[in-house]
Amino acid sequence: MKKIALAAAALATVTALALTGCSGARTDATSGDTGAAGFPADATIGVALPDKTSENWVLAGDLFTSGLTEAGFKSDVQYAPATNTVAEQQNQISAMVTNGAKVIVIGAKDGKQLGTQLQQAADAGVKIIAYDRLIENTPNVDFYVAFDNFKVGELQGQALLDGLEARSGHAAPWNIELFSGSPDDANAAVFFDGAMKVLQPKIDDGTLVVVSGQTDVAQTATQGWKAENAQSRMDALMVANYASAPIDGVLSPNDTLARAIITSVKQAGTDVTKFTVTGQDSEAESVKSIMDGEQYSTINKDTTLLVAQTIDMIISLQKGEEPEVNDTEQYDNGVKVVPAFLLPPVIVTRENAAEAYANNPKLLEIVKAAQ
Ligand code: BGC
Repeated sequence: MKKIALAAAALATVTALALTGCSGARTDATSGDTGAAGFPADATIGVALPDKTSENWVLAGDLFTSGLTEAGFKSDVQYAPATNTVAEQQNQISAMVTNGAKVIVIGAKDGKQLGTQLQQAADAGVKIIAYDRLIENTPNVDFYVAFDNFKVGELQGQALLDGLEARSGHAAPWNIELFSGSPDDANAAVFFDGAMKVLQPKIDDGTLVVVSGQTDVAQTATQGWKAENAQSRMDALMVANYASAPIDGVLSPNDTLARAIITSVKQAGTDVTKFTVTGQDSEAESVKSIMDGEQYSTINKDTTLLVAQTIDMIISLQKGEEPEVNDTEQYDNGVKVVPAFLLPPVIVTRENAAEAYANNPKLLEIVKAAQ
């Protein structure tokens, strides 16, 4: 019996190895023989990320370093520093091209200012994957990998309505203000448009009142996605519009800004348990705030999945295969529609947090500790 079991186990291992071998046309990393491959299996892959405006960028850098190494590549992961970010990111991308990277993954600091560097990359045959943020006004972006940004906005808009209903303690109309992200990030307008698809009809029919009257994306922008900019705009809005009227809720495009908005309305004397603010990114501090009954919602965009999807794309390119995409219509960058792989975002409130973070030990611990 034992012998048979051992033999079966050995056979299973051999089959597994054979299957792994068959599934990939990857060459031995040390042989340098690329066969039919797009480029050598131990090539350098560049990853240029923006400054660390939210936790997800920090996590992405770590996951790219480990995931690319595990896949047999050499990884070159760089962040744009907090100052002089655009120029630094441009320099980093140029250096990656010069140093022979075969693919460069870019989380753009300013997606409209990489034309020169991406031309240089195209001339050298380097493939470009826009990661999380679209790169605009250039033909030289090959693929886009992101969570569905428009859907993120729709989920935020709906969460704001749900929160107002559940928490404000009164019927409509509800007084709200609107915030959007940084104008140099292509995502900011997409998040806002998604949210306004849900909110505009409610503004039009009087269910929602934007007391300041500031409803277009330029008026609501938060330069650099910086918390201090959101907080000072919120402070000014409170002084100008809410001295006597209560504020019921705010559309916030991400968690960092949501927490700044909460700080501001608290300082102005608002009872935050009756106030609704949305978010995005499932940052630990915001998950804690949600469990404490302050922030109303966030969005789970699992960075592990996004990085894994990007690495899959790189492996396909290495093999000389066409990477899988699931959207060839939505992301027009001004010059072309960039083939995209979009992942589904998940809305999270106190009610579904345990389920939403079931596979995330760090966040699950925060949820469990508060329950
Ligand atoms: C990302 C968001 C993030 C924001 C600020 C956006 O491009 O999609 O997840 O909150 O940048 O870092």
